This record gives sequence, C-alpha cells and structure tokens, in this order.
Amino acid sequence: MNVSSQHVDDDGVAANCNAAEDNLNITRRSLLKLAGMGAATIASGSLSISSMSAEAPPASAATVVSASKVMLHVNGVPRELSLDTRTTLLDALREHLHLTGTKKGCDHGQCGACTVIVDGRRINSCLTLAVMHQGSHVVTIEGLGTPANLHPMQAAFVKHDGFQCGYCTPGQICSAVAVLDEIKAGVPSHVSTDLLAPPRPTNMEMRERMSGNICRCGAYSNIAEAMTEVAGGQA
Ligand code: FES
Ligand code: FES
Repeated sequence: MNVSSQHVDDDGVAANCNAAEDNLNITRRSLLKLAGMGAATIASGSLSISSMSAEAPPASAATVVSASKVMLHVNGVPRELSLDTRTTLLDALREHLHLTGTKKGCDHGQCGACTVIVDGRRINSCLTLAVMHQGSHVVTIEGLGTPANLHPMQAAFVKHDGFQCGYCTPGQICSAVAVLDEIKAGVPSHVSTDLLAPPRPTNMEMRERMSGNICRCGAYSNIAEAMTEVAGGQA
C-alpha cells in the first residue's frame, strides 16, 4: 500500500464514515419525526388502543348484554317485555312500563318506597329481578284505585292525612293493603303475643308490620290510624 493509495483508502473510509453519519442523521431525523407524529396522534386521541395491537382485545363484560323475554300481569294486564336480565322489577315497572307511581328511594331495600304486591305478597321491587317473576301478578299503586274511585286504603290515607310530601305514599299504601291481608291470613308478627292465636289489627301490629316503610315526613301516626280504620271496616 503506497501513500496515495493509503490516502485514497483514507478518503474512502472518510467518505464511508460521512455516508454512514448521513444515514444515521436521516435515521435520527426519521425517528424523531415518527415519534412526533405518534405523540400527536396519541394526543389527538385518533389512535385507539385496539389499533395498536394486532389482535383486538375481548369485549369487556360491561358491553355484553344478555336480554330475556318476561311476561308479567301488571294491574291485571298481561305485559310482555324484553329485558336485560339485570333489570330490577322496579326499573321494569318505571322505565319500561312507565308506571312511575312506584318510587325509587334508596334502591337498596332500606326504605320501602318501591313496595308492590306480587302474587298477593308485598315485596321491595328494587331487590328483585324482573325475570324472576315470569307469569306473576303484580299490583302497583296504579292498580289499586283511580282518582275517581279510590281504594279504601287510599281514601283512608287522604282522610287521616297519612302523607305530607307523598314520596313514600305509594309504597306505604301497597304495604298497608298487604299487611291487612297478612293479618287476615293469621300471619304473626314480632309483636304478636300468641303465635297460635289469630293476630288482631291493633295499632302496635300496624306499626310493627309497617316498620320497613320509612317516611321522612314522619306521618307514621296518621298512617297507623288510616290502617286501623280500614281494618275495622273489614272486620
Ligand atoms: S327503593 Fe326499594 S327499598 Fe328503597
Ligand atoms: S310523606 Fe314524605 S316521606 Fe312520607
């Protein structure tokens, strides 16, 4: 190797180094450009998580809706519904059948505002799923009476001032009607002194049996009086 060839070789190496450096610069520039585009895309929200993955993730549980048909006799009328199986009876009545007389208070079984009568027994409709009542007979406040033809319990509540704001009242009245049926059927309560004797519709029996229906207006005394009057009329 002579000096000139050494020079050429040095020049060649230098040229190669420059070319490599250029390529490296381009690569750096390209990389920075791409990174900038990616950041802008992510920041704008146009790049979804699923598009970053070759395989789409499974649908979350919240997006899987399981619907089911259910037939209820509501206030004597057969009603067929197609419901998300997680729908409570309360929501089926209010949101699907638009029977908004039944109220949602706590939605946790603590206030009794949602009380309806199902197959003759009072229940908290917020605590039960509609699909569990296929073929059941449901009575709501709308099915007890009408403004022109009040149920005796509704009339007694009006007479005895058994409400103030009225929010708890549909549940109170449905519960009260079912309570008198329970007493007539001989079902004892916590305050019944003799579990084998037919319970009597005393004021204490009314108060005990209605203890699951909360009234924030405190109309309890008047409610008990209204129930006692109706119970007396039935005796
Ligand atoms: S809303 Fe059902 S018990 Fe309160
Ligand atoms: S009348 Fe108001 S909560 Fe009972």
